[in-house]
Amino acid sequence: MCGIVGYVGHRNSADVLVNALTRLEYRGYDSAGIAVFENDKISVAKSKGKLKDLVDKMDREGKPQGISGIGHTRWATHGEPSDINSHPHSGAKVTLVHNGIIENYKELKEFLEKQGRSFLSDTDTEVVAQLLDYYYSHIKEPVKAIIETTQELKGSFALGIVFEDFPNKVFAVRRESPLIIGIGKDENFIASDVPAIIQYTKDYYLLEHDEIAVLEQKRVRIFDIHYQPVKKELKTADWDVDAVGKGGYPHYMIKEINEQPTAIKNTVLPRIKDGVPCLDECNINPEVLKNIKNIYIVACGSAMHSGMVGKYVIEEIARTAVTVDIASEFRYRNPIVGKGDLIIIVSQSGETADSLAAMRLAKQKGAKTLAIVNAMGSTIAREADMLIYTHAGPEISVASTKAYMVQLSVMYLFAFELAFAKGQIDEEKYRYLTSKLLETPEMVEKVIEHTTEISQKISTKLLTADSLLYIGRGLDYALSMEGSLKLKEISYIHSESYAAGELKHGTISLITKGMPVIAVATQSSIYEKTVSNIKEVKARGAKVIMICREGNDVPKDIADYVLKIPNFEEILLPMLVCVPLQLIAYYTAVQRGNDVDQPRNLAKSVTVE
Ligand code: AGP
Ligand code: GLU
Repeated sequence: MCGIVGYVGHRNSADVLVNALTRLEYRGYDSAGIAVFENDKISVAKSKGKLKDLVDKMDREGKPQGISGIGHTRWATHGEPSDINSHPHSGAKVTLVHNGIIENYKELKEFLEKQGRSFLSDTDTEVVAQLLDYYYSHIKEPVKAIIETTQELKGSFALGIVFEDFPNKVFAVRRESPLIIGIGKDENFIASDVPAIIQYTKDYYLLEHDEIAVLEQKRVRIFDIHYQPVKKELKTADWDVDAVGKGGYPHYMIKEINEQPTAIKNTVLPRIKDGVPCLDECNINPEVLKNIKNIYIVACGSAMHSGMVGKYVIEEIARTAVTVDIASEFRYRNPIVGKGDLIIIVSQSGETADSLAAMRLAKQKGAKTLAIVNAMGSTIAREADMLIYTHAGPEISVASTKAYMVQLSVMYLFAFELAFAKGQIDEEKYRYLTSKLLETPEMVEKVIEHTTEISQKISTKLLTADSLLYIGRGLDYALSMEGSLKLKEISYIHSESYAAGELKHGTISLITKGMPVIAVATQSSIYEKTVSNIKEVKARGAKVIMICREGNDVPKDIADYVLKIPNFEEILLPMLVCVPLQLIAYYTAVQRGNDVDQPRNLAKSVTVE
């Protein structure tokens, strides 16, 4: 995915566009560009590389001067990152920026080439620019030309558009890819996400599929696909600009790790009434829950890992079968889901293409869908039958930490609600588990305090590793998946999570002298079994880092490092264990000098397949 912005107002638009784009770089950063109305002409500045490279280029070559324009930070899907493939892209009279994928761009390109139009880039986006220019050259009216163009497009798009014949007006249209319209005082904005505009205004409209916005300095008009005006509800962001800055931390990731106690409170407290979960506002009716036969949790990456924890917790407490599936697998597997099944889609961004497609497929097949989403008003949030928002606030670092944590907290809320609705736990147990969940913010705070230093120390032992294993059983295995992903995606050190009991069936052959193995052993019912597996790898020369509970009896010489977390309700331990796993990955990446918040090849939300 990428980030798009637009501005019409009274400030220097190039500065506003660049400021706004800095808040969206987490969405993709392999090139950046802006287009500004300068003396009624459209001036474009764009370059491969990060936003900083664009700013340096403008410092060298001059910054377009004007009070309106559009901007883009790219995560390439069609055409490698390069100056020429960077956005904006133009036709004769039209310039635009795009987030999304045009699936039929090839046939449209062929049609346009037959009309004598030529192309400079390899992108699907330039085809949109040329197609819009083609329609505009015939229709001479921007909104009608946009309507005609978008009717021909297949795929996803959020477009910011300027027409040379309409100075100081910005046009926008979206389908699938997110877009908001920021409403300021004598200035208006478009943006892929709220963080881009929060420094200027907290008020915004959510643009729906195929709605067209026309922004001027003092007014915003919105039309539907029939060119009929649309009345919109004004929304107000419930967090402030500080929430988007680093707040004195060196990286967003460490800030967001430390925000986890607050994120849990903001997510859980509003869902507890008289000491027990209350999910009525999420359109979750205990009567519906009672009759659920099978549950699927479908997601990607860390969101899927939160589903792995959810599986163990829901099966343990609510005795309901749960299948966890990777969204990109689920959607192409013709899954056996239907009436009576519940598909839980977990997504921080609420825009992940595979997760959205999986949810739509489940609905087509007659299953009920429940979304657990962090981004307000996102597509997944809007299309699910039932919805539980997490309230982690904006998660800027590409590596998910607080969003994963609050996804866990919602899994617990849901599991307790389901178990009680199904009569699997009595009122006393229901209240007890809820009370323990309410203690987790304070417990997480304690774990952050107690494990930061040792995590930093442990990370120094991993710096030169070629590869690591993360092992565990049950809930500890689910946690080892998340620990492994965190390490890989920001330190670039290969690692693999493995069921501890499965090692001896082949993978143990990888163990060489000094190979780090991070063993998670917090569940007492299987602690001894995991200890045996740790002995197996230790005996073969592994450097063992063991994460267990303060109460555990750790055999002598079994581990090179033992990281202990406080004793707590065992089933809730994943919310504590994930902290040192996040910290170990963070400090390893920092010491390797990596770009922790924007790791290579990644983007914050993958809105393309
Ligand atoms: C996690 O650290 C990664 N950034 C990635 O795996 C992420 O969890 C995944 O892409 C899912 O994103 P979503 O939650 O926005 O759907
Ligand atoms: N498909 C467009 C391109 O490759 C936009 C990609 C995106 O949204 O990240 O330039």
